[in-house]
Amino acid sequence: MTKIFNFKNDINEEELNIAANCIKDGKLVIFPTETVYGIGANALDEDAVDSIFIAKGRANDNPLIVHISDFSMLEKLVEEPTKLEQKLMDAFMPGPFTLILKKKDIIPDNVSANLDTVGIRMPANKIAHDLIKTTNLPIAAPSANISSRPSGTKVEDIKEEFQNKVDIIIDGGETSVGLESTVVKVIDGIPTILRPGKITPEDIIEITGICKLSDNLFKKAEGVVESPGMKYKHYAPNNKCILVYSDKEELLIKLINSNIKEKTLIIGNAKNKNKYNCYKYLSYGTTLEEISHNIFSLLREADIYEPDLIIIEGVKKEGLGIAIMNRLIRASSYNYIEE
Ligand code: TXA
Ligand code: MG
Repeated sequence: MTKIFNFKNDINEEELNIAANCIKDGKLVIFPTETVYGIGANALDEDAVDSIFIAKGRANDNPLIVHISDFSMLEKLVEEPTKLEQKLMDAFMPGPFTLILKKKDIIPDNVSANLDTVGIRMPANKIAHDLIKTTNLPIAAPSANISSRPSGTKVEDIKEEFQNKVDIIIDGGETSVGLESTVVKVIDGIPTILRPGKITPEDIIEITGICKLSDNLFKKAEGVVESPGMKYKHYAPNNKCILVYSDKEELLIKLINSNIKEKTLIIGNAKNKNKYNCYKYLSYGTTLEEISHNIFSLLREADIYEPDLIIIEGVKKEGLGIAIMNRLIRASSYNYIEE
């Protein structure tokens, strides 16, 4: 039976120790971070890591991120970072940021999916930090969702799908950011964003003067890719879904209205709620921060109404909007209309 520990108001030290012992014993613990919930295991225990892949139904060529609580954990795990990599870590860790570094042999092959690199992340969330610190082990953790489904941003959304598949779920309430960390790899001396997130290209340029977006952020990736996660179906509701965007609001509303069917559910800006003649409207808020915080949970909620079609209002691909559109284009399986 999966136990749920409630740390919404404060961290219970006794339960934290139980969770840490679970990780040490090779078991799985779901825990909150500031981005999304993670399903964690001892990153140095190959069998424990295998059970993450099984619980999620994840392809084993898709590597996991290793979570640390302090820089002192780094030396054992990865080769010495370059000056540029160190600068990025100093600027964005702890925080919603993952850096791909050259791994040492201690990292099991299943964590890195046989690559010679590994993603390192230091969460800022206090529960995540304390769990890693108490365990005193690096924790491998992908987002807590069955593969292809939207990532979990609150326990209510994921507790059924992981019932009896993990030992403990730590409930820390809704995650603040709501989208997974920005994944960066320094390629030919240039910080390159493999997965956009809360840390934007502008944030990185401010620190390093330069930043590149990977080619595959808004289209389907095929063949050899910089980040294996780009190839897979992601974030998808069970019902058919299309994403629509125009920077001219009137045109956006016209486009969406012309696609509405009998039982169409729309996910969009709070201010457009009354502009469509649709079966159900779910508001994702008005600011990019609100949209990022709410979107994964709304994609799950949409399915409950069993619509014949889900239409999502897109946003401008700028700042945090880059990360939002990267997720929504995948959630809609590349059914994207832009005019
Ligand atoms: O915010 C987050 O990053 C969350 C929380 C739990 O920390 N974790 C997360 O993990 O989103 P996951 O496994 O769902 O996504 C990891 C992404 C995948 O797209 C994977 O392909 C990429 O990072 N990745 C991991 N290791 C990599 C590597 N060595 N090289 C390139 N991409 C890598
Ligand atoms: Mg994921």
